[in-house]
Amino acid sequence: MSIVVTGDRPTGKLHLGHYAGSLQTRLMLQNSGNLKVIIIIADTQVLNNSIHKANDVKNNIIEIMKDYISLGINPDITTIFLQSQIPELFELTTYLSNLVSINEILRIPTIKIENDMYNSNLNMGFLNYPISQTADIALFGAEYVPVGVDQLPIIHFANDLIQKFNHSFNTAYLKTVNPLLSKTPKLNGIDGRNKMSKSLNNAIFLSDDEKTIKEKVFQMYTDPNHLKISDPGKIEGNVVFECLDVFHTNKNELNNLKEQYQKGGLGDTHLKNILFNDINDFLSPTREIREKLNNDYIIDILNTGTSKIKILAEESIQNIKSLIFK
Ligand code: TRP
Repeated sequence: MSIVVTGDRPTGKLHLGHYAGSLQTRLMLQNSGNLKVIIIIADTQVLNNSIHKANDVKNNIIEIMKDYISLGINPDITTIFLQSQIPELFELTTYLSNLVSINEILRIPTIKIENDMYNSNLNMGFLNYPISQTADIALFGAEYVPVGVDQLPIIHFANDLIQKFNHSFNTAYLKTVNPLLSKTPKLNGIDGRNKMSKSLNNAIFLSDDEKTIKEKVFQMYTDPNHLKISDPGKIEGNVVFECLDVFHTNKNELNNLKEQYQKGGLGDTHLKNILFNDINDFLSPTREIREKLNNDYIIDILNTGTSKIKILAEESIQNIKSLIFK
């Protein structure tokens, strides 16, 4: 069975952007029936940019778990575990680190951007994150990694590093991976200016209640030049249509709405009502499941997942060490 490895840093509740960008793909992969999906809750990696907020991590793990389970991630099929509980990942990171130069790391776009932002003062943990993510993928022999486009350079980096390891130790033990791009890699936030994100205050959360969803949908950025209902409107950059693309299941109807909007004669309020109903219909059942999930149950799922992964990790790191120390 092919293995899929994916992960999230526990930074808080998940939003519609997470659903469109990765959760939807994970659910599809999980339900395909012929893949083994592993989800890493990267509670160690998350400290790279927030070691001072370590106290929040525990609660964030619970929230993210509730989001997963209420949305349909099935722990009997998908294994979810805590990165911090598998030291073998950090052992492999150490071995792999010897095969990477600082310059290679600084050339990776996400690192370069952050490093410029911090005036070259990025901490070592952050600089090391592409290597640690390579270990996350390589230790379990993943064949596929679902990612957004912005993570593609990390996957290329991981594959180079995996090949370097294999070449150095004359083996084919570590497997290169294939990125799986989601259909909607980037969903803009309700402000229409930036990617949906908790810190930018422009997100609709999977756990938002009906009233909040309505308020946020009605604040959504549309086409600023579409002033009167009769004016022709623009679809590109219009967040309502971006969201309808994800949540409106009747595609024919959606195409008609788009046509009508572009010609003129369709009001934003009408569209926003449709979108509100779509999102609310989608989230209502998950809200009910979420309310019934208690923390002990969640912790139990995590412990079971982590124990399963521990067995794989121990075996794999022994194999890797025997390749290094022949
Ligand atoms: N870096 C990913 C993120 O920030 C999380 C992650 C950690 C991950 N390890 C991974 C993703 C391995 C895919 C595969 O969201």
